[in-house]
Amino acid sequence: MTEVLDGVREHYRATGLTERLKTALSALGPQDQRLTPQQLGALDQFHTRGLAATAELAELAGITADMSVLDIGSGVGGPARFLAATYGCHVTGVDLSEPFVDAARYLTERTGQSGQVSFQVASALELPLDDGSFSVVLLQHVAMNISDRARLYREIRRVLKPRGRFATFDVVLSSGEPHYPLPWARTPATSFLLTAAATREAIEPAGFRTLAWKDDTEAAKAWMAQLRASVPPPSPNLGVVMGPDFAQLSANLGRNLMEGRLGILTAVLEAAPINT
Ligand SMILES: C[S@@+](CC[C@H](N)C(=O)[O-])C[C@H]1O[C@@H](n2cnc3c(N)ncnc32)[C@H](O)[C@@H]1O
Repeated sequence: MTEVLDGVREHYRATGLTERLKTALSALGPQDQRLTPQQLGALDQFHTRGLAATAELAELAGITADMSVLDIGSGVGGPARFLAATYGCHVTGVDLSEPFVDAARYLTERTGQSGQVSFQVASALELPLDDGSFSVVLLQHVAMNISDRARLYREIRRVLKPRGRFATFDVVLSSGEPHYPLPWARTPATSFLLTAAATREAIEPAGFRTLAWKDDTEAAKAWMAQLRASVPPPSPNLGVVMGPDFAQLSANLGRNLMEGRLGILTAVLEAAPINT
């Protein structure tokens, strides 16, 4: 397992990320000027359909101001900042990548949300968090980096309150082998895709009841086509985070979706009470 986690960390190593972000963000205004989560949307929402996907998932999960939300695999923190700004809730983000967590903290200072949104370095498979401490857990475009799904979903169930919500938005296998490199893995060594049906079979036994289960592939394809047509691409964008090959990684995801090799799944599940 350690080797796999090291491989995933290596993929998201992002050397000098916070410094690169400082430079890229100077295009939006001086350092002391407060930024909004919307201004950062092209750069800090590391999943298909960007900010719109986060907004839809949050609505489906029924997030409200009094809820404590955990974002697992929080990346550079865009979804966490958006949720806090939109709903007034407190959000904790955890991520395996130290440079991403540093960058997430920096961006959160720039949006003035550090009192409401916090980040820590941790593995989704060993969350340093108490049992039953969150009302909602979000997992967006992370599961495909995790081989031990049973353990992942058990950890999520453990930190949720009874009847808490688990909201997931992830890439799934449809038919055939995907083309690599991809935004989450440059080779198959750190990619652990499951079909939508196998994902459900892994989640429910961990103690969940399905509330919503949606195939979002068509919406993702339309978004990819729109992105390809926007010349020049929005700036600053995820290329700042992932490096110069990001355009190729993203184009490959689009190709896999168009060819029916990959799909996109949205689901919200309720944590069943744990029998003691
Ligand atoms: C494609 S990014 C998505 C980031 C964020 N959820 C978003 O949508 O903006 C995948 C993220 O998952 C994190 N990740 C992958 N495996 C992880 C694990 N085992 N534990 C915690 N984070 C993990 C990566 O470091 C990366 O930040």
